[in-house]
Amino acid sequence: MESHQCQGLSLSLFPAGVGIDGGNSKDWEKNGKSIQLIKKQGKVKALDEEINSKDPRPCSIFSLFQHYLYLTWKTIHLVRISSHPQRSDKNNEFIVIHNGIITNYKDLRKFLESKGYEFESETDTETIAKLVKYMYDNRESDDISFITLVERVTQQLEGAFALVFKSIHFPGEAVGTRRGGPLLIGVHSAHKLSTDHIPILYRTAGKDKKGCSSLPRVDSTTCLFPIDEKGVEYYFASDASAVIEHTNQVIFLEDDDVAAVSEGRLSIHRIKRIVGDHPARAIQTLQLELQQIMKGNFSSFMQKEIFEQPESVVNTMRGRVNFDENTVILGGLKDHIKEIQRCRRLILIACGTSYHAGVATRQVLEELTELPVMVELASDFMDRNTPVFRDDVCFFISQSGETADSLMALRYCKERGALTVGVTNTVGSSISRETDCGVHINAGPEIGVASTKAYTSQFVSLIMFALLMCDDRISMQARRREIIQGLRVLPDLIKEVLALDDEIQKLAMELYQQKSVLIMGRGYHYATCLEGALKIKEITYMHSEGILAGELKHGPLALVDKLMPVIMIIMRDSTYTKCQNALQQVAARQGRPIVICDKDDYETIKSSTRTIKVPHCVDCLQGILSVIPLQLLSFHLAVLRGFDVDCPRNLAKSVTVE
Ligand code: F6R
Repeated sequence: MESHQCQGLSLSLFPAGVGIDGGNSKDWEKNGKSIQLIKKQGKVKALDEEINSKDPRPCSIFSLFQHYLYLTWKTIHLVRISSHPQRSDKNNEFIVIHNGIITNYKDLRKFLESKGYEFESETDTETIAKLVKYMYDNRESDDISFITLVERVTQQLEGAFALVFKSIHFPGEAVGTRRGGPLLIGVHSAHKLSTDHIPILYRTAGKDKKGCSSLPRVDSTTCLFPIDEKGVEYYFASDASAVIEHTNQVIFLEDDDVAAVSEGRLSIHRIKRIVGDHPARAIQTLQLELQQIMKGNFSSFMQKEIFEQPESVVNTMRGRVNFDENTVILGGLKDHIKEIQRCRRLILIACGTSYHAGVATRQVLEELTELPVMVELASDFMDRNTPVFRDDVCFFISQSGETADSLMALRYCKERGALTVGVTNTVGSSISRETDCGVHINAGPEIGVASTKAYTSQFVSLIMFALLMCDDRISMQARRREIIQGLRVLPDLIKEVLALDDEIQKLAMELYQQKSVLIMGRGYHYATCLEGALKIKEITYMHSEGILAGELKHGPLALVDKLMPVIMIIMRDSTYTKCQNALQQVAARQGRPIVICDKDDYETIKSSTRTIKVPHCVDCLQGILSVIPLQLLSFHLAVLRGFDVDCPRNLAKSVTVE
């Protein structure tokens, strides 16, 4: 491919498609208006070969896009027509790629069908392509801009989406926008750019005769376009890993930004300025290298994902937490937060590691929401036919968004009229589509079967939700500030814990031939015990058990002797004295526990034979710092035992069967 003017990319193995246009407007004058669509099933490489076999080779690739959803379709034909880009009509007047879900697409489709638009697929995305054509066909004036059309379309859409459009009517232009789904723009330039941020162009909406917002056409000659330089290439993508091959300079778009690339110039627009809105978007330099989306310098994806956590938690908080003003915004919940505040109880439902994220945050949720909070394993919740009521709010925490047990529980709760909230890492997944609202944890693709960075991002997401729930409670403000300032320093503290890697590897060398490891703790760290034990059993195949220290006397103490490896978590929170008691009980049975503790807790350090010292953080976030040593330990144990860390036996990344 000679030049890539605007690309939307996603790493994919399944159906992919491209739209190829005639380049800039001069090329269009020469070649005539057309967009060619090519779709191919299989690996992206197959599509690439198909494109390169074209004669002449296309000069401008619009999109390369894949949708996991289509795995469930029955026939290749359907797969092909359902993959992206979707088109408005047989002439490909408008094409669109979409990451997310449009919840009101059936109503829109009915409306468009009543106007004579014919549909080829069952996808929500095709509705968007038809809707933009409808807006164009019914435009009030010929000089309507592409940006205006896209803004009008998004005003009609409900759900979560990131979209990129092209059209034969606007040669040399691409327009991207987002609401709820991630979208960034990669900027590649052979020379240094003359700016490091892009001011937002605000416009005030009025009403025209048709009742649509009438937005003045933005004239590129009168607006200040900071990126207006020759030879700059732009890439629209939902994930930074998709553009890193081409550039490490990116602009993260915010909800309702409309970004247009027109004849090589980039501008970003919003309809109007709202309070707290930052009037510019920074061009950021990604610390990500191409090899990092492969395994890079790491021996496995799991190891890479453990070490990504300082960045993945930042991505979870990006644009949501304002550390200076102590505020939290979660766009995916804002329309429902009042309803959630009025509910009878919160029920967190999940499986495995995602369940542990619920256990880890339950206490702070109870504290900040002052609501009863139940945390449920999805399978058990269903086995019990648990009573659910209309005034319950049910959270479904799932990295993949496809876990069958969680999905069944979601449908069960919906049938009973509860409000459903998704907390997922996969935009467009079944759980994110079927829930009423939700939070995308933005941890980036997690490839290792053992979940690590998704856990810490789920943890942070649930804390952000708890903070949002009490943002107008005067009595909670001091506590909120303490937690938000804890979130601010969290990435640096995680880096400090990761620096313990060599020490933990040495510990793994002492433990790797053992049959069993017990992990004990209580309060905020009970979840760490469960999660640490799960990590150890799933990738090392050693027996490991997470034990609530408060239950020691009720049975587990019988397991303790001088040979049994025991890890204890003792942090300086409200359970500290009780944990010290547990430590004494274990020591009294000749146990010699390895203690994960606060690096400034000299009392525990002095009374223990072996400690892993982690930095101090606000109590409810400390569980993020106490789990990382156990992630590292499980990783080193598995390597020393000679197992494939990323693909443990008998397990799959996404459990789509009951
Ligand atoms: C363990 C692990 C699993 C998943 C569980 C739920 O490391 O990854 O326990 O947490 O299968 O998966 P999701 O979060 O995709 O619903």
